[in-house]
Amino acid sequence: MPAVRKICCIGAGYVGGPTMAVIADRCPQIEVTVVDLNAARIAAWNGDDLDGLPVYEPGLAVVVDRCRGRNLFFSTDVESAIAAADMVFLSVNTPTKTSGHGAGKASDLRWIEASARQVASCAKGHTIVVEKSTLPVRTAEAVAAILSQPQVSGATFSVLSNPEFLAEGTAISDLEGPDRVLIGGEDADAIEALAAIYAQWIPAERILRTNTWSSELSKLAANAFLAQRISSINSIAALCEATGANVAEVARAIGLDSRIGPRFLQAGPGYGGSCFQKDILNLVYLCEHYGLKEVAAYWQQVVELNFWQQDRIARLVVQKLFGTVTGKRLALFGFAFKADTNDTRESPAIRIGKRLIEEGAHLAIHDPKVSDDQISRDLGQAPVSKADGFGALGSWESVASPLEAATGADAVIILTEWSSFQSLDWLAIASVMRRPAWLFDARTVAQVDQARAAGLNVWRIGEG
Ligand code: UDX
Ligand code: ADP
Repeated sequence: MPAVRKICCIGAGYVGGPTMAVIADRCPQIEVTVVDLNAARIAAWNGDDLDGLPVYEPGLAVVVDRCRGRNLFFSTDVESAIAAADMVFLSVNTPTKTSGHGAGKASDLRWIEASARQVASCAKGHTIVVEKSTLPVRTAEAVAAILSQPQVSGATFSVLSNPEFLAEGTAISDLEGPDRVLIGGEDADAIEALAAIYAQWIPAERILRTNTWSSELSKLAANAFLAQRISSINSIAALCEATGANVAEVARAIGLDSRIGPRFLQAGPGYGGSCFQKDILNLVYLCEHYGLKEVAAYWQQVVELNFWQQDRIARLVVQKLFGTVTGKRLALFGFAFKADTNDTRESPAIRIGKRLIEEGAHLAIHDPKVSDDQISRDLGQAPVSKADGFGALGSWESVASPLEAATGADAVIILTEWSSFQSLDWLAIASVMRRPAWLFDARTVAQVDQARAAGLNVWRIGEG
């Protein structure tokens, strides 16, 4: 099979954008075109303002700047890009279904199906189709079935699964130096064509080849194991608080067992992000489909514990503030699901924020990267104007600095581990808060000794 010369990627989101930028960077001989139906998103990828790219990732702007216009292009002309490509990546969104059979668990595959149909109708010659989006096991079969319909153009296809393991906030370093790359498929030539692309910068032993179903399932299993570790440490955090143990000490002690390992043992407000919950729910759905009731229940519990952790924190805030937050100003530090990203999908701050709003609190939210529009969509209500500000029950506003958020507040609640929260001036913050005032550090980032010295009451996750 001749080497791949032109790649088209359908979907210019968190996965498609960074992945294609790094492929273009590392493979200057390949022309990469990223297409999307969303014209505003493509315009932002093409914009002069590199701070305004649709995805915020450390290091991304530099890579885009180096390749854009050279061998990396962003376009809304989906059809032409597919027709020109030897290889098409499907990186479209696959959220959890909200209605119909499998609602709340199964993935909504309408965008995958639509893009597969588009490939079927526009491709020319032999085209390798690569599943990049996180998908339920056996989706490749469905994609292959759509592509196997007789094509007017006489095009032929091979379908591969090549799941994405990048984590947001470290996407560029994950793509440049991945632990492994997984390629699943049945067509050896197609597998080698894709492997040859990654081999441009990734050591051969890290490029794994499996059958299609193993590849698809490995993605779900890897995310389920990671999420399970977080629910496990969060369950222990609650027990630490009850018994006087310290979860950071316990995590260190167990993490030194080389069989357990030290990573992903940070207790917090629960995991967020577009993958963990969706992938476990997919796994649960799959188990139920195959009659594995007990296995489904086992994984479902990882998700339940995650919700419980978020509700527990919201309840605890209310309880510490004399059982009521009605009419109180609460400063939320951080809204993104983790640091170094503007993504809020499944962020613990959403559920915790909604619970506190339901209790009548006024939230003053400060996040260095998340936009007001995004917070409005997530909380399901618009911010109050400054004029109404303090008085409005069950409301929120966004503020530019931690100090402004804390002004007049009864509590500061840290929900995202932004590095700027490590060096806050607690003396200054405490001086503008209403007493008695609390710091709830759900991410173990604040200098709590300073906060205590400044007169704040302090609750920290997992500390008894
Ligand atoms: C995850 C996987 O890591 C990645 O391999 C997969 O492709 C997509 O899903 P991502 O969601 O971007 O990546 O972020 P990740 O760093 O895994 O964090 C997920 C959530 O877990 C965040 O909310 C984070 O704050 C939380 N977390 C992580 C903890 O609470 N404790 C930890 O120890 C680690
Ligand atoms: P992910 O995190 O998986 O990258 P995103 O929602 O960030 O998910 O990005 C997916 C992108 O795919 C969106 O920008 C959406 O507009 C785009 N998309 C979905 N379906 C199609 C399609 N048929 N053709 C082109 N783009 C599509």
